Amino acid sequence: MAVTGASGALGRALLQRWHQRGASLIAITHSTVPLQLHDRAGAPIPLQQLTWQVGQEQVLLAELDAVDVLVLNHGINLQQERSAEAAAQSLEVNALSSWRLLEGFAARVAGRSEAERTGRPRSEVWINTSEAEIEPAFSPLYEISKRLLGQLLSLRSLDLARAVRIRRLVLGPFRSTLNPVGLMPVGFVADQVLLQASLGCNLIVVTPNPLIYVLMPLTTLGRWLYNTLLTRA
Ligand SMILES: NC(=O)c1ccc[n+]([C@@H]2O[C@H](COP(=O)([O-])OP(=O)(O)OC[C@H]3O[C@@H](n4cnc5c(N)ncnc54)[C@H](OP(=O)(O)O)[C@@H]3O)[C@@H](O)[C@H]2O)c1
Repeated sequence: MAVTGASGALGRALLQRWHQRGASLIAITHSTVPLQLHDRAGAPIPLQQLTWQVGQEQVLLAELDAVDVLVLNHGINLQQERSAEAAAQSLEVNALSSWRLLEGFAARVAGRSEAERTGRPRSEVWINTSEAEIEPAFSPLYEISKRLLGQLLSLRSLDLARAVRIRRLVLGPFRSTLNPVGLMPVGFVADQVLLQASLGCNLIVVTPNPLIYVLMPLTTLGRWLYNTLLTRA
């Protein structure tokens, strides 16, 4: 499996848990600092590190042909900013780069020959949108960019889900660099994400806010209906 934003709080926690499950790991990071992770016993976790920058999605995709689960997890939160530069950066990092990676990964999977598919599990893309898709996060650019990502995901899933299994992660506040005052510990969030995935959920919700468990399924259902009625493949 491969995860973007690998050196962040959730990226690390997910990699550690996938390691416990015996997965081969690819840590995708925009940092050049070597990523070192350790298991519970303190032993180093073996992983391949890929460095990329937003805008270089095609170069990155060429390295991901052996990947069965791609987790799009990178993100920024430019709180209190509203400049044109901040808007462009938020849209590129939080929404457009993940969308391009989703499209590119699905296209490469769809282009695999029958022989290349044989013996492999169905490829998956997990996309970390956030509950900011539907409720305030006290950060306008973060909300705008995450809502765009969520809307694009709802629209394009109608076609892309034929090639790859798509899972949407809708997470509430957890502690990290992006959100130092988040309520939930990141380890709890990562455990819940993997639990819900193992139960077969494509909509994975982890939040202390009970309303999100009701509103998010309704929102995705409403978008599915709207997009299906108004667009064609
Ligand atoms: N924390 C929360 O309350 C919360 C709630 C809901 C959803 N989320 C989402 O969860 C995901 C992980 O966030 P986190 O809380 O774990 O935050 P984090 O610790 O800050 O991790 C985010 C990671 O994204 C990568 N990143 C940052 N700027 C980037 C850039 N310009 N280009 C490419 N990658 C960049 C960095 O990893 P690399 O250096 O390895 O590239 C960074 O460590 C984000 O998508 C966030 O929106 C967070």
